[in-house]
Amino acid sequence: PTSAATLYRATYLHTPRNPFTHPDALDAQSDGGLLVQDGVILAAGPFADIRVAHPDAPVTDLRGGLLLPGFIDTHVHYPQVRVIGGLGLPLLDWLDQCALPEEARMADLAYARGVARDFIGGLIGAGTTTALVFGSHFAGAVDAFFEEATRTGLRAVTGLVVSDRLLRDELHTTPQRAYDEGRALIERWHGAGRTLYAVTPRFSLSASEGILDACAALMRDFPGLRFTSHINENTREIQTVRDLFPGARDYLDTYERAGLVGRHSVLAHNVHPTDRELSVMAAHRCTAAHCPCSNSALGSGFFPLRRHLDAGVHVSLGSDVGGGTGFSLLKEGLQAHFMQNLMPGGVPLSPAHLLYLATLAGAEALDLPHTGSFEPGRAFDAVHLRPAPGTPLDAVFRHAASPERALAAAFATGTPADVARVWIGGDTVLGD
Ligand code: GUN
Ligand code: ZN
Repeated sequence: PTSAATLYRATYLHTPRNPFTHPDALDAQSDGGLLVQDGVILAAGPFADIRVAHPDAPVTDLRGGLLLPGFIDTHVHYPQVRVIGGLGLPLLDWLDQCALPEEARMADLAYARGVARDFIGGLIGAGTTTALVFGSHFAGAVDAFFEEATRTGLRAVTGLVVSDRLLRDELHTTPQRAYDEGRALIERWHGAGRTLYAVTPRFSLSASEGILDACAALMRDFPGLRFTSHINENTREIQTVRDLFPGARDYLDTYERAGLVGRHSVLAHNVHPTDRELSVMAAHRCTAAHCPCSNSALGSGFFPLRRHLDAGVHVSLGSDVGGGTGFSLLKEGLQAHFMQNLMPGGVPLSPAHLLYLATLAGAEALDLPHTGSFEPGRAFDAVHLRPAPGTPLDAVFRHAASPERALAAAFATGTPADVARVWIGGDTVLGD
C-alpha cells in the first residue's frame, strides 16, 4: 500500500453483470460503502459492513445523491462539439453542410486545441470517464486531443480519421500517408497513460479499398489497437456503399474483407443491418454502438435492438456528438428507452438496462475490464449525481422509495447540471 484508503459512503448502483443475459444484474446499495486505495476499489457493499472491516479509513460522505460508475461513451466525434444542434438534415446533407466544414477547420492547430478543451470539458461535465472518440482527419489535431486527454486524466481511445474520397479535398489522404501518420501517433500515444489508439476509417463511403488495407496493416503491425467506423446508418449512405463496392456482399463485408472486424471493433449505428451482418458481427464478437439521439436527430431510423440481442451482437451506447444532441449518456439512455417503446418489437428497457448500456457495456466493447462497474479490483471511475435543491430530480431523490426509482428519475430528467463530482482512477477530475 502506498497511500491511505478512503471509504466513500453513498447511495450507489452499478451493473456488475449484463442484465440482458443475467437476472439480478443490478446491485443497488441505499447506504453503500466503496473502499478505494490508489484509485482502485478494494471493497464494496453495505456501508456498515465495510466500516466494521476498515474502522480507521477516513469517510467521504456522498449521501443525498446517487453514485454511479463513470459513463462510457463508445461513439462521439471530437471535431463536432461546436456544431451540435444542426437538426433536421439527413446524414449526407448534414455531413456536407454542418460537420465537414467544421472538421476542415481542424487543420488550424490553435483552433483544434480550443476544440479539444471544449470537447473533453463536455464529456467530463456529463459524467463520462471513458470514451471511444472519433478523431480528426488532421494528425496535429489528434495530437492536441491526446495532449488534452492526458492533461485532464480522461480515459480516451481515439485516432486519426482517414478517408480518400467523396468528402472534401482538405480531408482526403492517401493509404501511405494514412499508415505513416497513424504509426507516428500510435508510437506516441497507444498505451501511454490512460490513452489507447483506434484505427478509424470514417466510413466505407469515403474509404477506398486501399485506405482500408492501410488500416488493416496498422492493426496487424501494432498489437492491442482498437478499430472503429460507421455502418448502416442511413439508407442513401448504404445504397452509395453498395454502388462503390459492387463485389461486397453488404456494408459489413467492406470492412470484413479488409480484416477489420474483430473483438476490438466498434461499429457505430447499424440501424439497417442484414441478418448476415448480424451473424458475422456476433461471430467476431464486435460491438454495435447505438446512438439514439443521433438516430432521431438525423432521422436515420429505429435501432433494431431485439435483432442484435437475438443474434448475440454486443451493443453499447454512444452520444454521437455532433449528430447527437449532447454529451449526456443519461439522455441517450432515455432516448433509447423512448425509441424501443415506440417501435414495433422494441425491447422494454429497465433502469438496470440503461445503466448497463451507459457503463459496463462500453467497458466490454472497449475490452477495458478495469472499468465499467464498482466490483473490487476495478478502477474508481465514478460520477456523483447531486441535483441542486429545489429541482425535480432533487425532490425524487429525497423521496424515492428505492435506489432503482431514483436511478430511473436520473435517466428521465438528469442532465450535466446534476453532475457534482467525477473521479477517474480515484482522481477527482470535476468538482471537489
Ligand atoms: N458517417 C460518416 N461520418 C459521420 C459522422 O460524422 N456522423 C455520423 N452520425 N455518421 C457519419
Ligand atoms: Zn458518428
